[in-house]
Amino acid sequence: MDRLLIHGGRPLEGTTRASGSKNSSLPILAATLLASEPVCLNSLPHLRDITTMVELLVELGANVSVDERLGVTVDTNTIRVLRAPYDLVRKMRASFLVLGPLLARYGKVEVSLPGGCAIGTRPVDQHLKALEQMGADLVIEDGYVKASCDKGLVGANIRMDLVTVGGTQNVMMAATLAKGTTVIENAAREPEIVELASCLRAMGAQISGEGTETIVVEGREQLGGCMYRVMSDRIEVGTYLIAAAATGGHLRVDEACPETLGAVLAKLGDFGCRVIVDGSTIELDARGFTPSAADVRTEAYPGIPTDLQAQFMALNCVSEGQGRITETVFENRFMHVQELVRLGASIRLENPTTAVVTGVKELRGAQVMATDLRASSSLVIGALAAVGTTTISRIYHIDRGYECIEEKLRWLGADIERLHV
Ligand code: UD1
Repeated sequence: MDRLLIHGGRPLEGTTRASGSKNSSLPILAATLLASEPVCLNSLPHLRDITTMVELLVELGANVSVDERLGVTVDTNTIRVLRAPYDLVRKMRASFLVLGPLLARYGKVEVSLPGGCAIGTRPVDQHLKALEQMGADLVIEDGYVKASCDKGLVGANIRMDLVTVGGTQNVMMAATLAKGTTVIENAAREPEIVELASCLRAMGAQISGEGTETIVVEGREQLGGCMYRVMSDRIEVGTYLIAAAATGGHLRVDEACPETLGAVLAKLGDFGCRVIVDGSTIELDARGFTPSAADVRTEAYPGIPTDLQAQFMALNCVSEGQGRITETVFENRFMHVQELVRLGASIRLENPTTAVVTGVKELRGAQVMATDLRASSSLVIGALAAVGTTTISRIYHIDRGYECIEEKLRWLGADIERLHV
């Protein structure tokens, strides 16, 4: 299993460019199942989760080709298997997003239940409840959701009991081919929802209200092909900015989608960093001072994303004073705490969703283990800021979500290498 070896203590300095968004690419790849013509996608990041979704599409029978400029074309007219197997859904929960599109287009599908995951139980009840309201017959058998709708899906008024990104995406996709109008209330407002809506619209879907809490979809007979360029990864950008802040660095990120990072940039300002936005470039200057610890509370968009909670915790570890981290989206997302403590951090868990971090003068390198995707990036940040050498094991978690992480960090002056063992 590969490991990362990091000699810390060097500030990140220089310019990097954001990769395409993982969390936008995954639902968009699932949405290709709705299109009766090929869909060509540009800027998909080179990541394990993307490969897993492409493998799933191929397993279902799709034709996927990659051109010389790394554009990926997906033709789903050759779909012949209507079953998403456990082995792929288990690897990546976002595989569950094929449920809505396959049901809407083919009237029948079996998708493995995702099961638990490191950051909580993560049920899919909201996806299922909404599809039932749209006329789907669902049974859960042998670990699979078996869904059918002999007469097709029918538009409905759906009120989500809680804000769910994946649930909103699954229903929005299904609704594009349902008969009549679907209204989704209490919808997620994340930029990845807006992005999926624009891509579906490019395929001919009729959608309005994305980015607000009420989305309206008028069903169509069929959707066509399109060309679509995926937006930049706001979580990757946030991670690099926080890493620069934690190392006292000076970083510019190009193509950084600052409009999706309002709460994050404001919070970096609370830590005392100088943040300048110029068009699509974000510059962060943290040279010459110790950041002041700040309270961070995760929330659905436009709040601070849960996917940056661990990274902000790492920043608090090397800041001056005390900061309280409150996780409101997932029930068990503090797996990184014990690993950061191995680096010398001072963190007290007040309750399962609140951690109080007292900044220390310095973190010290140690052997640590990545437990999930974003937890691993907090360990990278801790290691970059620490004095001495850190090895991070189980980095397959990082490869799910950060494109060329060692290359990008090395370019910015970090001393980091991958050990193949
Ligand atoms: C997506 C993101 C993930 C991010 C999360 C929250 C992708 C591929 N993943 O995950 O990186 O951390 O949004 O911003 O885009 N819930 C239920 N019932 C449901 C659905 C969700 O109780 O049917 C709960 C979950 O357990 C969780 C909360 O709702 O506590 C939010 O989950 P959700 O927004 O659905 O996350 P994902 O779409 O899985």
